[in-house]
Amino acid sequence: MTEHILVEKSARLLVLTLNRPEKKNALTREMYATLATHVNRANDDPGIRCVLLQANGDMFTAGNDMADFAAINSSTAEVPVDNPLLPALAGARKPLVAAVNGRAVGVGFTLLLHCDLVFVAEDAALSAPFVNLALVPEAASSLLLPLRIGYVRAFETFVLGETVDARKAVEWGIANRVVPAAQLHQVARAAALAIAGRAPSAVLATKQLLRDQAALRARMDAENEQFLRQLKSPEFKEAFTAFAERRAPDFSKFQ
Ligand code: COA
Repeated sequence: MTEHILVEKSARLLVLTLNRPEKKNALTREMYATLATHVNRANDDPGIRCVLLQANGDMFTAGNDMADFAAINSSTAEVPVDNPLLPALAGARKPLVAAVNGRAVGVGFTLLLHCDLVFVAEDAALSAPFVNLALVPEAASSLLLPLRIGYVRAFETFVLGETVDARKAVEWGIANRVVPAAQLHQVARAAALAIAGRAPSAVLATKQLLRDQAALRARMDAENEQFLRQLKSPEFKEAFTAFAERRAPDFSKFQ
């Protein structure tokens, strides 16, 4: 079976590559679990000084696998709903570097807010259309995005689902640099190697000082409650059905 997450360890880097291009790297529960395991393990692995996240195929990721979301919506039994990648991102001790090509949808966008360096290809297009799907922001993005880009831009991004292109991502402080697509992985790797060459405890302490892990976890808990309620809602059922039928959702009948 094809591995949907490729894992490479070399030169004190951990490289995690999303590798489900035929489904636009949509993230399944298994993929989240694999990513979380490796990010968590890196915390205490002295052989890893930086984690690089990248993707194969024509886009970074189309976000959460819609079939997994739909299963939660239609299930009457308790299906596991927690996403182990989110606490792993909040608790990551080693710097995270992201290389983003093409679209980064939903969690593909919000996970970037937990990365310490972000490189975007010229064709990068970030979107967090949670409300279009009758969902709410997650991954502590309701805290991090307005801090990063300001309230009105964050609201527009979440509620109207406006796309942030590569140039705007840099202008708004979401990404460090726009890179030609052909050089994206090379540039991101060079930056990750540069981090790996710095004094390791100084790097870890700097990241720890810059990120308030307790606040991130608390916000994730608050978001999860609303997110789950929405996932189980008739509004989400309409949004998912519309996705499957390749049409726009119709929310006119909801109060
Ligand atoms: N979950 C599951 N499968 C997905 C997916 C997702 N989030 N996004 C894309 N896919 C699948 C499609 O169903 C399709 O599968 P098929 O070939 O078996 O029919 C395949 O990936 C290719 O997708 P397609 O829509 O044909 O590609 P595209 O280039 O025309 O469009 C997107 C790409 C990302 C714009 C579009 O797929 C999309 O809007 N996806 C949903 C994004 C989303 O809302 N994510 C959730 C955020 S919370």
